[in-house]
Amino acid sequence: MFRSILLRSLVPLLVAAGLVAFFGLPYVNRLLLDWFSADMQVRARLVESSLQDSLPPLVKRDDLGALNDFASKVTADQRLLGILICGTDGRLMFETARASAAVACADTVRIADGHSAILHAGTGSVQVTMFEQMPPGQAPYRVGILYDMSFADRRQTTARDFVIAFGGVSVVILGLILVLAAWLLLRRWANVLIHDISRRRFLDDAQSPSLWMPVLRQVRKVLNEMEETQRLEMDYRENWTPQALQLVVRDQLRSPRMIVVSNREPYIHEHAPDGHVEVQVPASGMVTALEPVMRACSGTWVAHGSGSADREVVDRHDRVAVPPGDPAYTLRRVWLTDEEEEGYYYGLSNEGLWPLCHLAYVRPSFREADWNAYCAVNRKFAEVVTREAGSQDPVILIQDFHFAVLPGQLRPRRPGATILLFWHIPWPNAETFGVCPWKSEMLSNMLMADVLGFHTLHHCQNFLSTVDRFIECQIDQERMTVALQGHVCHVNAYPISIEWPPHWLANAPEIAVCRRSVRERFGIAEHVMLGLGVERWDFTKGVIERFHAIELLLDQRPQLRGQMTLLQIAAPSRSKLPAYQALQRDTIHEADRINVRFGNETWKPIVLIGKHQRPQQVFELYRAADFCVVNSLHDGMNLVAKEFVAARDDEDGVLILSTFTGASRELVEALPVNPFDVAETADAMLRAMQMPREQRQQRMRLMRRTVKENNVYRWAGRMLMDAARIRQREALLTGDTRRLPEIRAERRVN
Ligand code: G6P
Repeated sequence: MFRSILLRSLVPLLVAAGLVAFFGLPYVNRLLLDWFSADMQVRARLVESSLQDSLPPLVKRDDLGALNDFASKVTADQRLLGILICGTDGRLMFETARASAAVACADTVRIADGHSAILHAGTGSVQVTMFEQMPPGQAPYRVGILYDMSFADRRQTTARDFVIAFGGVSVVILGLILVLAAWLLLRRWANVLIHDISRRRFLDDAQSPSLWMPVLRQVRKVLNEMEETQRLEMDYRENWTPQALQLVVRDQLRSPRMIVVSNREPYIHEHAPDGHVEVQVPASGMVTALEPVMRACSGTWVAHGSGSADREVVDRHDRVAVPPGDPAYTLRRVWLTDEEEEGYYYGLSNEGLWPLCHLAYVRPSFREADWNAYCAVNRKFAEVVTREAGSQDPVILIQDFHFAVLPGQLRPRRPGATILLFWHIPWPNAETFGVCPWKSEMLSNMLMADVLGFHTLHHCQNFLSTVDRFIECQIDQERMTVALQGHVCHVNAYPISIEWPPHWLANAPEIAVCRRSVRERFGIAEHVMLGLGVERWDFTKGVIERFHAIELLLDQRPQLRGQMTLLQIAAPSRSKLPAYQALQRDTIHEADRINVRFGNETWKPIVLIGKHQRPQQVFELYRAADFCVVNSLHDGMNLVAKEFVAARDDEDGVLILSTFTGASRELVEALPVNPFDVAETADAMLRAMQMPREQRQQRMRLMRRTVKENNVYRWAGRMLMDAARIRQREALLTGDTRRLPEIRAERRVN
């Protein structure tokens, strides 16, 4: 470092000194010469005045011998070179011996009376001062006093050499002192910064001992900002947070208008029996996932207003700020008539597409009127979304199977929009999907999205082969893109997840408190092993199969009677539909039957709660359970499994997980089951109850790491990064620089 400071500061210093010398030395020479010349002129005047009386008679007599004697006395001064007497016409009248060798009368004609000039003779410089003499009665003549100025040349050379030597030495000494001081200062700053960086002190200004150094303070500020940016950028890859997601929206997407569209709204306002309005968070994996994303990104969520008090809380634009009490985004409600809801929601969505996409062996029903209502409602949403979007290039995130035709309806309304459609449920194989009478219309409308997301690669492949089978288009299997009518749709897997850490956990009571309160609430004794099931009451969830597994277990192992209970929460869902009504009846019937068969006054093998629970209550249940059973017959992802893992910060509890859920691809430390194999499920429950604590902890720890890393911010972030890339590519083609990612200007320390 020292060498480099030396080179960098000393060389410019020397160059500067050289320049000063180059232009300054002639000035010094001139100054010295002027001094010497003025001095010689004064001496010449003295000589001339001493000649005043004695010289005229000698000149008059033209007595050269006397003149010589006189001159030799006057010129005793060693610098006085000689005397010259010239006629006014330039004729030589008298000259001393040394003068004759130096100057002729002709050279002096131009020198005025009393003035001097420096002439260059062969012997060196000579200063000649001329005086006019006009003695009375005599012809005028001019006397020249010649002084030897060669000493001035010598002194100038000496002075120049001295100035150069002195200046050079001074510059070097000064330079060295400066370099040393700079080096010491820089070394100190470097040490302070190294210390700061290694101990991450710059994050806390108050602790800093050297804040009086203004530059250091600036450097620390920049370091602090850089560290923060770097941390958020690292978050893209390792640790997705709401802040990292916000950074993607700001820097990669350039803060567009963000619109989420779904059928189910995140907050439902309902009239409670006592008449007051209460807010419900619906039992929906889609809501669980999207809500934290919207809290982080803001924007507008467009959804069906389905609550009995929904209309009472919106403004005149049908908007309400949510979450209640801590608003972060806008919920725009869309009202549907009973007929619309019947055909679009209950009909095509839940009696057609839901059973079509889930391999739960419930036959889908397709009715023309439902399809028409489905398209009409999608159109209604398209109009609302277009109005809410405002700008020409919003980012629109469409959720789920309720809106398969929405991308196609939005595209002509907003050609510049970036449209993402995420399919939260499985996508079946081509043969299965082929039974849908409107498959081509659905697929070609879906393909108008820019990004089409599924939970797993398997679902993506099913989708691509369905498209291949039924649509005339170009598929790039390697890039997973489909080109249709000049539009390219990117198909990709984005495994959905939950927020980490779940905000419900923040106020959750201790595990022991949860265990006690849940057991008290549901009448389950302290010693009884507690299994938990939490679902919407849906035929895809395998609730009855789970009951059969309990029955089998109690049959095969009588010693477990009185020792284990399954607490089953089933949130009523789509209850208007016959298939769901039948399921509810069958579930209650099977629970009763098994309870009668094995239960007694103080113990029941199954506690069935057919009621919606608030998220805080669900988290309390997760924390109270010994094991959680997720044996869905088919499930896109299943977020109950991930929520159970997230709730267990005590690193305990066992997860039993169906291999037909998307979650089973990630949570490989869970006990896997084929939900159609009742014996395997029973066996998994037994293993869960017998598993040693250490193994439970190891499995839970690994699953928690997975859910933490693959959280919902990562899900949204990856999808939005892909959307950003598409927008940026389009921007490059159209030259629209507003859409290109922000390149931060280099910072300067002032
Ligand atoms: C599934 C769907 C969601 C839906 C949820 C609840 O998770 O993927 O879109 O919201 O079920 O169903 P519901 O019909 O009550 O909205």
